[in-house]
Amino acid sequence: MIYRVAATLLAMVFALPAHAAGSADAGRSKSQVCAGCHGADGNAAIPNYPKLAGQHAGYIVKQLQNFKSGMRQNAIMQGQVANLSQKDMQDIAAYYASQSIKIGAASDEAKRVMGERIYRGGIESKGVAACMGCHGPTGKGNPPVNYPLLGGQNADYITVSMKDYRSGARGSDDAGKIMHSVAKRMSDDEINAVAHYISGLH
Ligand code: HEC
Ligand code: HEC
Repeated sequence: MIYRVAATLLAMVFALPAHAAGSADAGRSKSQVCAGCHGADGNAAIPNYPKLAGQHAGYIVKQLQNFKSGMRQNAIMQGQVANLSQKDMQDIAAYYASQSIKIGAASDEAKRVMGERIYRGGIESKGVAACMGCHGPTGKGNPPVNYPLLGGQNADYITVSMKDYRSGARGSDDAGKIMHSVAKRMSDDEINAVAHYISGLH
């Protein structure tokens, strides 16, 4: 009996971190200041701003920390995160993660076909790995290792991000540096095509 109680208590202790991770309810009100740019439900209408809806909470928290520490530089976002605590970041991330991303159209057939080839097979002659290998066949990403959701993301934002990885303007932790070596081997046309394909991927 004693053992069973102890085991139950132990299970409760280990269950705690999950509850401490962030409250989507609290995040909804805390994210009101973000809505003008990212959309009330995280579906940014401005093409070169990122959608946050459905993005993995761990990835969102990591990027907010990167802005705060200056590892990722962006004049707009630096100001936004200055006063956010770790708890604020977790709550806001939980809120956006609970929303659904609206998938785009990807209506240019030539770009879509070229983009699909790169996404699913990489570019062998240049040593570019298939995006699918890490971001998943439908672009859902891989939460435990912080590979972000991509499917449905605004094409213009993806293009900006890839060019910033390529030039080094977008900083990241060591795990994120993989994107620098991916983007460095890609031409503008290849980036545009894969971004177009991803905006309609689901
Ligand atoms: C005035 C417009 C604006 C406001 C307000 C704003 N953002 Fe942003 N946000 C941006 C832009 C632009 C970027 C892209 C920055 C870049 O290219 O590095 C961005 C990037 C991000 C990213 C990285 C997304 C990714 O996919 O890597 C997160 C997370 C984020 N913002 C969260 C927030 C949160 C949380 C708030 C509110 C506390 C907020 N933003 C307020 C414009 C804004
Ligand atoms: C080996 C794993 C891996 C491969 C292959 C890979 N990625 Fe990534 N990708 C990542 C990681 C990790 C991040 C997060 C980087 C960071 O923290 O900045 C990321 C981030 C991104 C982002 C930024 C998302 C956002 O919301 O800001 C884009 C866009 C992206 N990848 C596109 C691609 C494309 C396109 C390809 C194929 C040409 C690709 N990735 C291949 C691991 C990978």
